[in-house]
Amino acid sequence: MEYRRLGRTGLKVSTICLGTMQFGWTADKDASFAVMDTAVALGCNFFDTADVYSRWVEGNPGGVSEQIIGEWLAQGHVRRDQIIIATKARGPMGDGPNDQGLSRHHLINAVEASLRRLQTDVIDLYQMHSFDEEAPLDETLRALDDLVRAGKVRYVGCSNYPAWLLTKALWISDVQRLVRFDSLQPHYNLVHRAEFERELLPLCLDQGVGVIPYSPLAGGFLTGKYRRDTPLPDSARASGVRSRYMHKQGFAAVDALETAAQAHEATIAQVAIAWLLANPAVSSAIIGANTVAQLTETMKGADVPLTAAEKTQLDAVTEWK
Ligand SMILES: NC(=O)c1ccc[n+]([C@@H]2O[C@H](COP(=O)([O-])OP(=O)(O)OC[C@H]3O[C@@H](n4cnc5c(N)ncnc54)[C@H](OP(=O)(O)O)[C@@H]3O)[C@@H](O)[C@H]2O)c1
Repeated sequence: MEYRRLGRTGLKVSTICLGTMQFGWTADKDASFAVMDTAVALGCNFFDTADVYSRWVEGNPGGVSEQIIGEWLAQGHVRRDQIIIATKARGPMGDGPNDQGLSRHHLINAVEASLRRLQTDVIDLYQMHSFDEEAPLDETLRALDDLVRAGKVRYVGCSNYPAWLLTKALWISDVQRLVRFDSLQPHYNLVHRAEFERELLPLCLDQGVGVIPYSPLAGGFLTGKYRRDTPLPDSARASGVRSRYMHKQGFAAVDALETAAQAHEATIAQVAIAWLLANPAVSSAIIGANTVAQLTETMKGADVPLTAAEKTQLDAVTEWK
């Protein structure tokens, strides 16, 4: 397993980050424990979760993914300091007006709740899940600065921020001497490129902001199990995948990945991961897995030696400029 610096920080993260959005949703506790055990055994030292996971499941108040990770940590499956735990806040965790958002009030409450669920005394990377237009950025950054000084959080990052806003946040941190966003978690894969590549990519490279893309397999589409004119696979993700990725260019990307995969005796999913990691801006790809078999297959993508020429050929299939 290769470890890369998270942007300009000194923190080293595995090039595969284990996403845990499935925990408490399509992966129960036992399956989640098995996935975490295997990820660590294969060299992964980086887990991503969020307080809201899996609040969309009926009857679920949210926080279950963090709870499962917390129980796993408490059982001593790994030494706490060997794992970088990233979580997020912003989404609704209750029905009250202050049960969501990026205000000082909510963030401080949300950190305490995440720490309790994770059964830990520190969050390694605390990410703003998406922008809150009602909370001033300086209020958010000052609250994060206090949380870092209080030892509850070590690094801070953001997710789903547009470039102008990340630039503004970096500027506020600079002029007000506050902690800065050291990572960005964008939606980025071979069939969803422009949103990140247009302005965020050069910004992150220039400012040393670590990039940790989510949905690197496009929710399962870039595994080859979604095909033209065939029934959708049995997956809770299928309708989302269909509306987002099942178009002419998406299928062309799967075809091109399949050709590259044959050359490397690899799978489509593995080459999709290799394509992402061939990008120098990317620190780690946040993958999702319901089973140990899925995880094991996808993680091997970090070892596929994609050549520059192969990356260029894949780029050409989903060119957006
Ligand atoms: N910041 C944000 O707003 C945001 C948004 C989304 C996700 N995330 C983070 O990113 C993580 C990953 O996102 P994602 O789940 O969309 O990532 P993904 O890696 O693109 O998709 C994962 C899904 O693909 C399928 N899959 C995975 N490996 C497979 C394999 N080898 N063969 C066949 N199917 C396979 C599984 O779904 P099926 O088995 O159901 O097909 C799995 O749930 C999440 O867990 C979360 O931590 C963040």
